[in-house]
Amino acid sequence: MDTFDLVIIGAGPGGYVAAIRAAQLGLKTALVEKRSTLGGTCLNVGCIPSKALLHLSAQFAFVADEKAAAAAGIKTKEVSLDLAALMKRKNAMVGGLVKGVGTLVEKRGVEVVRGTGRLGGDNKVVVKPEDGGDEVRLAAKAILLATGSVPVELPFLKFDGKTVISSDHAIALDKVPEELVVVGAGAIGLELGSVWARLGSKVTVVEMLPRIAAGFDEEVARHLQRSLGRQGLTFELAAKVTGLNAAKGKKKAVLTAERDDQKLTFPADQVLVAVGRRPATRDLGLEDAGVELDDNGRIKTNTTFQTTAKGIYAIGDLIAGPMLAHKGEEEGVAVAEILAGKPGEVDHNLVPNVVYTEPEAASVGLTEAAAKEKGLDVRIGKFSFGANGRAIATGATEGFAKVVADAKTDRILGVHLLGHHTSELIAEAVAHMTYGGSAEDLGRTIHAHPTLSEALKEAGLAVSKSAIHAL
Ligand code: NAI
Repeated sequence: MDTFDLVIIGAGPGGYVAAIRAAQLGLKTALVEKRSTLGGTCLNVGCIPSKALLHLSAQFAFVADEKAAAAAGIKTKEVSLDLAALMKRKNAMVGGLVKGVGTLVEKRGVEVVRGTGRLGGDNKVVVKPEDGGDEVRLAAKAILLATGSVPVELPFLKFDGKTVISSDHAIALDKVPEELVVVGAGAIGLELGSVWARLGSKVTVVEMLPRIAAGFDEEVARHLQRSLGRQGLTFELAAKVTGLNAAKGKKKAVLTAERDDQKLTFPADQVLVAVGRRPATRDLGLEDAGVELDDNGRIKTNTTFQTTAKGIYAIGDLIAGPMLAHKGEEEGVAVAEILAGKPGEVDHNLVPNVVYTEPEAASVGLTEAAAKEKGLDVRIGKFSFGANGRAIATGATEGFAKVVADAKTDRILGVHLLGHHTSELIAEAVAHMTYGGSAEDLGRTIHAHPTLSEALKEAGLAVSKSAIHAL
C-alpha cells in the first residue's frame, strides 16, 4: 500500500484547494470524494448554481417588467419563462466549472479516489465506493477532514423534497411555486427567495429574529429588507414556526407560526427551510479515532487546524468560524502549508460575508454596534451610491458604503456595503484591513472613475469629513 503525505476527505472548496496547494508544495496527495464531480456543496448545489440562478432570474425579471424595460428603451411583448431552459443553462454553468476543477486537480497529480471516506484507525482512510465495490484503504502521514456541512432539518418540518425543501431542491425546481414560504432570513433564504420571487412566486419569508440578515450591519439589513419588500418579498419577522399542515385535495399546505401570542398561518405550495447548516461529521469514525467535537457540534481544532487526534486535521464548515466557502479555502491552503513546514493561519476577523441579493450586502470586520459593544471609540464614514456617477449611469443607486474606523488610530475596523455588485468591492476593504490600513489610506487610494468602488473611497474620506461628492 502506497503511503500518501496527505489524504483529504471531501472535495469541496476546502478540500480540493488544500489538495492543489499540497500538490504544488510537493506532497503526495489523495482526495476522496463521494460525488461524481468535485467542488462539493458550493460548486454543485450551493454558491455557484444559486449565483447562476440569481443572474438568470434577474435577466428574466428585467425583461418581464414591461415598464422598466420600456424606460430603458426596450419594447417587450409577451415575455414568458422557459424554466427548463433556464435550469439547463444553470446546469451548464455548473457543469463547466466542476469539470474545470476536476482537470486542475488531476493535472496537479492529485489522486482522486471515488467513494465515501472514513477514518480507519492507524493513519488509514477507508473508502467505500458508491457502486458497492470493495473498500479501499489509503495509508496517510496526515489526514484532512473537509466534509463540509448539510442543511439543518427542523423536527416538525422534515425535508421530503416535494413540499418541504432544502436549498438542494430549491435550486432545481421544475415548476415555479405559486406560493413559496421561506423559513429563515439568512443568506440562503434571501437569495433563493429572491430567485423565485423574480420568476413569479409569491414569496413570504418567516424569520424567528426581529431582523433579517443576522450578523450584518443593522442599517444594511434594514435597507435590504425595504428593497426586497419592493421586489415583492413579504417578511414576517419575530415569528416562530410551529408546524405544517399537509396539503389536502386542492387545498395547499399551511405553515403555522407564532408571534407573541398571535397564531400565524401561511398557505404554501412549497416551504424552503433555510435555518442554517450543520457540520457533516456523521459516519466519519470520529469517536473511535479520538476526534472530539465542541459544544456546537463542530470539530475541535488547535491553531494549526489539528484535531484532538494526532495527524488528523479539519477545516471549513466542520470547525469553528463562519460557514463560508472562501474561509474553508484559506484554511485548506493553511493546512497544506503547515504540513509542508511553512506557517499557515487564517484570521476569521478578515473573512468577508456577502448576500448576493439585489442590492448585494457585503461586509467584513466589526459592525458599528459590535465595535461599540467592545468599548471601542469609533468614527463612521458613509457614502451613498445615489451620489456615485457609475451607479447613476448603471441605474443602480440603491445602498451605501460604510466604513467603521478606530477614532484614535483611524485603522479600519469594519466595512459594510449595500449596493450593486458590492460583492466585488468588499475585496478592497479586506485588502486594506489585512495590511492594517486606515480610513485615510482607503480615501487616498486612486480609484478609476467612474466606478462603484469610488463610493468606498468616499466613505473612507467621510470618516474625516472630507468626502468630495457629499456635503
Ligand atoms: P443562516 O444561519 O445564514 O440563516 C438562518 C436564519 O434562519 C437565521 O436568520 C435564523 O434566525 C433563522 N431561523 C433559525 N431557526 C428558525 C426557525 N425555527 N424559524 C424561523 N427562522 C429560523 O443559514 P442559511 O441561510 O440556511 O445558510 C446556511 C449557511 O450557509 C450559513 O452559514 C450561510 O452563511 C452559508 N451561505 C452563505 C452564502 C453566501 O455567502 N452568500 C449563501 C448561502 C449560504
